[in-house]
Amino acid sequence: MSDDIDDDISRKLESKIDNKLASKSKRKHLEDGFKKGKVVNEVLDKPTVMTLYKMIKDHIIAYVNGSISAGKESVVFWGVDEHDVSVALKIYLVSTSNFKKREPYILGDPRFSRLKKGTKNLVYLWARKEFRNLSQCYDAGIPVPQPLYVTNNVLAMDFVGQNGVPEKSLLYSEVDEDDYKQAISIIKDLYHKAKLVHSDYSEYNIFKTENGLVVFDLGSAVDLRHPNALEFLKRDIYNINRFFNKRGISVEDQNSLFEDIVK
Ligand SMILES: Nc1ncnc2c1ncn2[C@@H]1O[C@H](COP(=O)(O)OP(=O)(O)O)[C@@H](O)[C@H]1O
Ligand SMILES: [Mg+2]
Repeated sequence: MSDDIDDDISRKLESKIDNKLASKSKRKHLEDGFKKGKVVNEVLDKPTVMTLYKMIKDHIIAYVNGSISAGKESVVFWGVDEHDVSVALKIYLVSTSNFKKREPYILGDPRFSRLKKGTKNLVYLWARKEFRNLSQCYDAGIPVPQPLYVTNNVLAMDFVGQNGVPEKSLLYSEVDEDDYKQAISIIKDLYHKAKLVHSDYSEYNIFKTENGLVVFDLGSAVDLRHPNALEFLKRDIYNINRFFNKRGISVEDQNSLFEDIVK
């Protein structure tokens, strides 16, 4: 597509979005990719809505089909592509993001040593960081949602679940010894194969599926060269042990696990 046409489309989209944002009562009339009555732009700012439109124009998704989860720092939407395949859209919120909390997981990671100033840049960088972490895991054969696309503050990945309903996390699942074994083997593979420490490894960020555990929410994961990588690893082990222990599974000693992983 030529730049002129591209510009033209952008201008049209822009004025459309202006109209949409201008009046919430017009929400029911949303067309072009946003399903009727499914509100997306209530929580999303205009640049983010533009980004989603760009993804539709680039055929990454066909439409957005509603929200799945709303956190303080990010929201996850259910998107559908042109072949009717579901994708998960994780959108980092620019307005509410608290970067002081994230700094420890990005400063010190040599992959992201050139940090530009400004919250928006940091939010965009965070999205790229999660994409990159997912890619490193996916390439290493670790069970994660396959990363598909990242642009600005929007990350698209494989939808883990069915009909817009995500799989249950460990927290909401029955767990057994084999789940514990898998959880530990994922930490080991993250370390040895993907060269990462998850840094937010817990019952909240692991799906239990028919085909085994799938780990996600990798925004905080750091490179092994990060100065605090080992401290984060200890905490990951502690947290996952605590969860399985609470569920009555006998867990391995956390120090021996740690030594065994880093030796
Ligand atoms: N790839 C995915 N497929 C299906 N659901 C997902 C996917 N990624 C996230 N979700 C849903 O969104 C929720 C929040 O995602 P998460 O990455 O943990 O973000 P947060 O930073 O808010 O914890 C998850 O608990 C899960 O229900
Ligand atoms: Mg999470």
